[in-house]
Amino acid sequence: MSIIKLMDAKLANMIAAGEVVDRPASVIKELVENAIDAKATQIRVESFDMGMKKIVVTDDGIGMDLVDAHMAFSRHATSKITDEQDLNHIHTLGFRGEALAAIASVSKVILKTRQKNHEGIQVTYHGGHFISEGVASLNQGTIVEVSDLFYNTPARFKYIKSDFAEKTAMIDIFDRLALANPEIRLSLYMDGKLIKQTFGNRDFHSLIDQIYGSKITEGMTVFEHTVSKIHMRGFLVSPLVSRSRKKDISIFVNGRYIKNYALIQAVIEGYHSMLMVGKYPIALIYLQMDPSLLDVNVHPQKYEVKFVNESMLAYHIELFVKESLLKKTHAIPETLKEIKKTFKETYTPTSIDFTEIREESIRETELALPKIPDLEYIGVFSGTYLLFQNDQGLYLMDQHAAAERIRYEHYYKALAQPSQAIKNLLVPHELTLTKEDLDVLNHYLSTFESYGFGFDSSLNLTHLPIWLEHQEIEIALESMLTMLSKSQKIDLATLRDSLAKDISCKGAIKANKALSHNEIKALMIGLRTCENPYTCPHGRPTLIKLSHYDIERMFKRVVS
Ligand SMILES: Nc1ncnc2c1ncn2[C@@H]1O[C@H](COP(=O)(O)OP(=O)(O)O)[C@@H](O)[C@H]1O
Ligand SMILES: [Mg+2]
Repeated sequence: MSIIKLMDAKLANMIAAGEVVDRPASVIKELVENAIDAKATQIRVESFDMGMKKIVVTDDGIGMDLVDAHMAFSRHATSKITDEQDLNHIHTLGFRGEALAAIASVSKVILKTRQKNHEGIQVTYHGGHFISEGVASLNQGTIVEVSDLFYNTPARFKYIKSDFAEKTAMIDIFDRLALANPEIRLSLYMDGKLIKQTFGNRDFHSLIDQIYGSKITEGMTVFEHTVSKIHMRGFLVSPLVSRSRKKDISIFVNGRYIKNYALIQAVIEGYHSMLMVGKYPIALIYLQMDPSLLDVNVHPQKYEVKFVNESMLAYHIELFVKESLLKKTHAIPETLKEIKKTFKETYTPTSIDFTEIREESIRETELALPKIPDLEYIGVFSGTYLLFQNDQGLYLMDQHAAAERIRYEHYYKALAQPSQAIKNLLVPHELTLTKEDLDVLNHYLSTFESYGFGFDSSLNLTHLPIWLEHQEIEIALESMLTMLSKSQKIDLATLRDSLAKDISCKGAIKANKALSHNEIKALMIGLRTCENPYTCPHGRPTLIKLSHYDIERMFKRVVS
């Protein structure tokens, strides 16, 4: 006896719903995307009881006629594509024709809609079944009310996470939709309370401030470039404001928020040593390109997007992020308030000994265009902070952070061409290594050789790279061994960065070390020749400025 039967439409919709609507936030996403596709200029999102009681999305878009208002609830019914050719140049956010059918199959939906110069109408569906239709009074546009989500799918209902998790998910989705659509006014209400709104005036500074909190865009860097017909705009929030998760690095392509590992990684690399380890920036990258260069038909929630030339794109993004952040001129943190906000962590320097900064390593040519102004040394505070002044105000330099930055850039450059030049030791240097270290050393001998280290048969050091000071041999080898034993796979770029960070921190001037005038001068000159002098390799500031105005304000000579 044959046993295979076709599912009825209702059952098929409920199964599909599992993919499209798994939580209240995805209902918001689908409804707002429909409003955007309907050319809305204003969209209001309301949720009640974490979206489980009711979600209402109101737009001022083109609306639907009665036939379409019913059609919209059928699976695979869409006004957005007609044949397979259309799949290659999708201009709308939706195109599968699944969302409304899926939402309606697991909730109670009232759809009210009105086209220009027409009467308003309304249709009601419960659990995917038609209930009623009639006239409705509303302005041009569409209102979709979704009540009692998952009322008929108890399994899904149970799966809903904590209130907090749902609330965060809804806000996250709203944020992305708002950031992706700077020309649309969006507002989000929860249980009647306004949570966030944007102004739809294409002003990215105000948009980003509305989403992430006021004044986050202070010190933001912006870039705009077109490469191979791909238009790229980047909004890079100052590295002084960082997050511990990657999720505030957002990539938008043709008005759509997407996830793409390579591009996110490119942004992180672009910020490179300006952020502390484990910290990530807030950055937004907007790409505009011919739709034929991407494939969005990957997943029902349509987040993953594949690019035709992904590595080229990643390369350019990294480059633009890096270049524009380095170009930023006034990167010296201005006030104490700004610093406190970002650097709550206390930091214990772990230096081993002091090494003089060699003046000969400073290239005079670069002094022509210093990123740090000419400053007069006036004293030291707390044995650690060097004080300088000029006509702009007072400057505090963290001597350890500054020394670390200088050493980091020195080693980072040196490690770029690791095996260029070596120096031989007259007497092989005996290493004080544990048995484990020796095993690692043996295993990675060729890596060490590629960096310019040479060993005799009993693993005594016979030659070393020219860039390494004799007294830093142990520090460098220890760092390399630790790195290699932690990660079997060696990624030379990471090795270079971590090694430079590690060596530079270990050998740098300690806090509380008294410095001679010459040492202070060398520190200042060294910092002025750095590519990125404003932060140590872990992202802490090296120099803080208190302007005349700041100081006068503290003494209440001026009021504001
Ligand atoms: N807010 C809206 N305004 C106007 N038309 C809408 C709206 N929401 C849905 N529609 C219509 O309903 C259709 C089905 O919507 P949906 O199920 O989300 O599928 P898709 O968006 O993939 O086409 C859309 O193609 C569109 O024609
Ligand atoms: Mg849709």
